[in-house]
Formats: sequence, structure tokens, C-alpha cells
Amino acid sequence: MAKILLGVSGGIAAYKAVEFVRLATAAGHSLRVVMTASSRRFIGAATFEGILGSPVLTSEFEKDAMRGTFPGEELPEHEPIGHLALVESADLFLVAPASANTLAKLAHGQADSMLTTSFLACAAPRLVAPAMNDRMFSDPATTANIETLRQRGVVVIDPATGALASKGEYGVGRLPDPAGLLERVEVALRGDLSGLRVLVTAGGTREPIDPVRFIGNRSSGRMGFAIAERAAERGAEVSVIAANVALPTPPGVNRIEVETTADLAGACADAMPGCDLLLMAAAPADFRPASSSAEKLQREGDGLELELVPTADILESLSASARSGQTLVGFAAEHGGDGEGRAALKLRRKGLDLIVMNDVSDCRIGFDSRENAVTLVSEKGSSRLDRADKRVIADRILDRSLEIHRESGD
Ligand SMILES: Cc1cc2nc3c(=O)[nH]c(=O)nc-3n(C[C@H](O)[C@H](O)[C@H](O)COP(=O)(O)O)c2cc1C
Repeated sequence: MAKILLGVSGGIAAYKAVEFVRLATAAGHSLRVVMTASSRRFIGAATFEGILGSPVLTSEFEKDAMRGTFPGEELPEHEPIGHLALVESADLFLVAPASANTLAKLAHGQADSMLTTSFLACAAPRLVAPAMNDRMFSDPATTANIETLRQRGVVVIDPATGALASKGEYGVGRLPDPAGLLERVEVALRGDLSGLRVLVTAGGTREPIDPVRFIGNRSSGRMGFAIAERAAERGAEVSVIAANVALPTPPGVNRIEVETTADLAGACADAMPGCDLLLMAAAPADFRPASSSAEKLQREGDGLELELVPTADILESLSASARSGQTLVGFAAEHGGDGEGRAALKLRRKGLDLIVMNDVSDCRIGFDSRENAVTLVSEKGSSRLDRADKRVIADRILDRSLEIHRESGD
């Protein structure tokens, strides 16, 4: 069981932190709590102290009667520096709720309280669960602070959408319920993908017409990068082959850049032998110009005729060369009609373990959008994942892929 350090900051949802502590303790974890001064105006430290039997700390200058230990541990003889001792033995640091103010401080490395100072000194996995009014959450300052933390490897537990504390308001900003928070903590502790080598392809290939023009597609790489990000956060060793993706590399992920479908095929063939799970979220071109001009084509005459030839089918050749113990997940962008039927055919034709199908006729999701809704198609049937943030969809895709990987016995 783990030692969890819980940071509570000032927001209405602070009351949910009490239930989190109760559930986490009942699940066998050992906890210490640090509270910001503002959070003590929302709930009392006595509640946590009563449940845990250990003092709650607020200032980095406060003496810790437990000398940085967790309940049940032996006290060291020497009095240590409080904020350093607390995080040294913690297996995980969760800030829930994380107020807009505390997120801003954490993103800027401020260290002016026990919570912020110990967060900065913590080398264990760090999770934050933002909770606030939807306008505060959507403000570019908060969005940027959250992105900064994410880029530094902090796991952000996205807030839920629903009724907000302010009367009559509805939107994004609710702290997930305590059981949901505990589930995220357990996943982070378990690292359920640890030991797995995951290869993800992302983005859209470009087939040159001449040195300045190309045939491309609208894939932004967001879905593939969300999968790479979550797989790394869940403990996998992750490489992403990125075809023209203008997004920052997720923390802890190895990035390989490619441009054309031929480059992508080559990079996949090189990386494939060393992976256990391959998720092909990139959109390779099906056709490329038969030849590309070495010089920029001039605008002359009535038009330009391009001869297109098919590109190599990457998935088919990877599937043919896959060894036992490798799980292959393909992606299919289908446009209306019986997309699921076509995806099932593709699954069999290409010898894949799973296909993630999205209907690109719905313009609210898919390409370049932060949200997606997909159908997972395998030999066992299909299941629909309703519209959600791409990171949530990424988790469900990884859950199903892992299930199939384990069923295959490797
Ligand atoms: C009634 C009330 C409710 C508040 N709820 C929230 C909230 O849910 N989320 C938030 O980020 N700030 C909320 N605030 C503002 C914070 O409490 C304020 O920014 C405070 O300085 C946060 O300090 P801390 O981050 O050090 O805990 C609320 C303030 C009041 C008075």
C-alpha cells in the first residue's frame, strides 16, 4: 500500500478531499495532508487530523510532530527539514482540489507554503485535480498553467462537467468524485502499463509534388499524442513516430520525426521488433504523386495533371511481419454509412487485433479537435466510446488494447 501526500487548496470542493482521505485510508493507503491557509476557511484541519491521527501542515516553517513520517512509521531521531522529509518518503503527491491560484503557483515554481514548497521538492509522481468555476478554468492563464504542469510531467486529472458551486451555473470545473480520484491515484501508483513497450504513430504524412507543395491530410496528431502521453503516464516505455505534428512531445516520450508515407513505413519497420503494443493513429496517404519535381513547378498552361500511384500499405506489411506477443491496433477514419462494417472487414483483411473507428462526417470531433468519439471494433464485437476529451478516449483505447494483449497470453 502506498504513502500518499494530499495537498488541499482553497475551493468549495475541499469538502470532497475529506471523503477521498476516508476512501484512500479504507483502501489501505497511508496519508498525510497539507492544506493551504485559504483551504482552512473552507474545511477544518481537525477533520483530517481526526481521520488520520496525524497533524495537518500549512506553513513550511511549522514543526511537524511526526518529523515527516507517515502514520505507523518510526520517527527519526534527528528533526528533518519538514517539506523535504514529507516528500522523501511519499509515493505520490495529489493536489485536490487544486485552485486556480495554487495551479498558478505550482506552474511558476513558487514555494511560499508547505503545499507549494513540498510540491516543488517532490520527485514522486505528482497529480493535480483542478476545480473551479468554468470561466476561471477556461481563462487562458489557467489553461496555460495547466499545460505547463502537464509538460513537466504532472498528471492533470481533468475536471468534470456539471452543476457548479455558484448558484444556477453549469459547466466544466467540478472536482471528480472522491472514488474517481482514488481510481486515478491507483492507476498512477500501479503504472498498469509498466514493462510494456508501446509504439504510437501520429499525424498525417505529406507526399511531395515539388519542393514547396505536397499532398497531405488534416490529421493533427492530437489523438496519437494523447495516447502516447497517457501510455507514458501509465508507466509504459513509449515511442511516437510523428508525421508533421505541430504539438510538443509528451513528457517521457521518445519522438521520431517522419514526413512521407515511405518514411513512416521505414520508421515503423525499424521500431516494430522492439514493441509489444503498436497503435497506428497516424493518417498515411493512400496515394502519392508518381514523381515529384526537383524544382518548383511554374504556373503555366491551363492546368496541371498529377499522376498518383498507391503508397505501400503499412499496416498490412507490419501485420504480416508481427511476431507472437505483439498487439496491433489500427485506426480507421470512416465517412458515414456502415463505417463499423467496413472497419470490421479491415480488421480481418489486415490481421489486426483492434480497430479504432471514427466517423469523420461529424465535424465536432476527430481531426484537430480536442475531443473525439470512436467505436472500438475487435473480433469480439464493437463498443462505442461517447464524445470525450482525447485523453479520456486514449485511456479507454489503452485499456482495451491492454486487455487484448493480456488475453493473447503475453
Ligand atoms: C466562496 C468561495 C469559493 C471559492 N471557490 C473556488 C474554487 O472552487 N476554485 C478556485 O480555484 N478558487 C476558488 N475560490 C478562490 C480561492 O479561494 C482563492 O483564489 C484563494 O486565494 C486560493 O488560495 P490557495 O490556492 O492558496 O488555496 C473561492 C473563493 C471563495 C470566497
